Amino acid sequence: MTVLVTGGTGYIGSHTCLELLEKGWDVVAVDNLSNSSPESLRRVSELTGRPLPFFPLDLRDETALGQIFGRYAFDGVIHFAGLKAVGESVAQPLEYYGNNLQSTVSLCRAMVRAGVGRVLFSSSATVYAPGSPLPLGEDAPTGGCTSPYGWTKWMIEQILRDTAAANPGWSVALLRYFNPVGAHPSGRIGEDPRGIPNNLMPYITQVAAGRRECLTIFGGDYDTPDGTCVRDYLHVVDLARGHVAAMEYLLEHTGTETFNLGTGRGYSVREMVDAFERANGVRIPWRMGPRRPGDVAAIYANPAKSRSVLGWTAERTLEDMCRDSWNWQRQNPQGYET
Ligand code: NAD
Ligand code: UD1
Repeated sequence: MTVLVTGGTGYIGSHTCLELLEKGWDVVAVDNLSNSSPESLRRVSELTGRPLPFFPLDLRDETALGQIFGRYAFDGVIHFAGLKAVGESVAQPLEYYGNNLQSTVSLCRAMVRAGVGRVLFSSSATVYAPGSPLPLGEDAPTGGCTSPYGWTKWMIEQILRDTAAANPGWSVALLRYFNPVGAHPSGRIGEDPRGIPNNLMPYITQVAAGRRECLTIFGGDYDTPDGTCVRDYLHVVDLARGHVAAMEYLLEHTGTETFNLGTGRGYSVREMVDAFERANGVRIPWRMGPRRPGDVAAIYANPAKSRSVLGWTAERTLEDMCRDSWNWQRQNPQGYET
């Protein structure tokens, strides 16, 4: 079994490459390194003791991509590559539509030409229409996305559904991630955001490391038990294993299926800060700030379908997530440049 991983040097990509190699599958990774370092995969190879061919290329370069498909006989593809900063996508929509959509079309064309018809896609809970009752099942309404980033996920889901419908024998899984956090327990790979982190957990770990002074909590007047937003945080190792389970499912099925990858349990920002302090014995100074535009009060998954159909559940606790995030940050205070 040989899997092509796009966006393989990134945060979730690198953790997934590790799990695929641990499973005994062969992995080939590509990435244009616009938001990551090849050091992540060097470490994955070191941790697993297995080779991991990596090609620095932009997915929109169809010639270069075609050469990779010519060189290896892939049994499946996992498509992580894309730009993912929500705020940046509002400021630079064409960058996001251009990169994320063209990359996917280019990848699908290469797959059709090579006769490879099995693909997992990194979608997001952001495709769900705001205001749906919680927990969110896969059949909840989608659309009404609050950012161009969200719309690219929504559109790519449709591109893949249409491509699968036009190519009998294709099998597609649209994986809607909730909030991945944490790092591999070795502390050798983890999330390495460039610049000021947009997301909560990397911001907390950088405050803990003294790289930032204080966390700003975006809003304390939401309609939630403590007034701060509630999200479904899941450990990146559980998420990575979800990809192994989904690829095994695709080996046996054709057509398109959608799966939520989340725990089904929501935690507030205040609970996250408390849990991080408790798990690691460090203090996180914070102050209350205004709401962040585009945020919703609460969102968490109904993961029942992933459990029953894929046999996958998120097993790691909030304490594991907090401990492993800090372990990675402490060992690599400047990320992969340390
Ligand atoms: P990441 O930025 O670490 O990884 C994405 C990788 O894609 C990067 O290494 C980047 O260099 C690469 N890339 C971007 N455009 C490319 C192109 N044109 N050609 C080749 N490579 C390209 O992000 P991540 O957190 O690992 O996310 C992986 C995927 O999961 C993304 O599609 C993201 O939108 C999705 N997702 C992430 C989250 C999250 O919270 N991290 C949540 C939901 C969905
Ligand atoms: C965000 C994106 C989502 C994307 C995901 C991963 C939005 C509206 N959603 O999810 O589309 O898939 O990132 O990239 O941007 N918070 C603070 N202080 C901070 C940072 C965050 O209080 O410094 C709060 C936020 O208001 C939110 C929670 O922490 O309530 C989680 O934020 P974040 O990690 O950015 O994830 P989401 O907003 O859920």
